[in-house]
Amino acid sequence: MNIQNATVLITGANRGIGLAFARAALARGARKVYAGARNPASVELPGVEPVRLDVTDAAQVAATATRCGDVTLLINNAGIARAGGWLAPNAVELAREQFETNVVGPLRLSQAFAPVLAKHGGGAILNVLSVASWISSPGLAAYGATKSAAWSLTNGLRHELRAQHTQVLGLHMGFVDTDLTRGFDLPKSSPDDIVARAFDALEAGDEEVRADAITEQVKLGLSAQPGVYLNVLAR
Ligand SMILES: NC(=O)c1ccc[n+]([C@@H]2O[C@H](COP(=O)([O-])OP(=O)(O)OC[C@H]3O[C@@H](n4cnc5c(N)ncnc54)[C@H](OP(=O)(O)O)[C@@H]3O)[C@@H](O)[C@H]2O)c1
Repeated sequence: MNIQNATVLITGANRGIGLAFARAALARGARKVYAGARNPASVELPGVEPVRLDVTDAAQVAATATRCGDVTLLINNAGIARAGGWLAPNAVELAREQFETNVVGPLRLSQAFAPVLAKHGGGAILNVLSVASWISSPGLAAYGATKSAAWSLTNGLRHELRAQHTQVLGLHMGFVDTDLTRGFDLPKSSPDDIVARAFDALEAGDEEVRADAITEQVKLGLSAQPGVYLNVLAR
């Protein structure tokens, strides 16, 4: 789909990759950009319309679908990452919290906006996933599981939405320079580069984009012997 003249809703658009999506959508000529944020006052980018949206709040999701009934592109970007392994004493609580935001959130948004997208000819959903969909890191164990689940959600939604001509794009990448990776002393991509690749892929009609070299390598390694997922993702 073309970004030009699209009406875009981005979750978590006040900072990080979501903010980069909002800037890029305006630069590519979107008709309207709704900037979803838990605190709408934190949206400082001129030219967008702030919308109060906590993706874990079912009532706010429903209200957003009513208010933003002209959306043609939904970007499920909001996400959290909590440090810790599976054997940490608080692993269950951290897993629940991250699944609620990173998986149930995009699920609720996709359900609420599927009829809106259908009404406008199909449109598109862009889900922000990760290289962690395919390989686990001991420091971010449950986070990786949420991104694996969100990848599966993305693939399932694609099947179910094909009949209404909705393009479903999964975006995978390694570390990006945002608050989420502050303190990780590793090479990171810039949010603007990642978003440019994602929008190029969306406009090309693609269904998956691997936006950096590490993600490309990991994806290739899934079918290697031994599979790349038998290793850990270095941090
Ligand atoms: N940075 C990376 O290396 C990297 C790599 C691969 C994938 N990703 C994915 O990229 C996406 C964006 O991450 P980022 O790096 O931009 O992180 P970030 O800088 O920490 O920003 C996260 C955004 O999500 C919002 N958010 C969190 N929980 C929310 C909720 N319940 N409802 C609505 N908004 C919520 C935050 O809002 P508040 O300001 O209110 O907290 C913020 O706008 C996430 O899905 C992340 O998993 C990131």
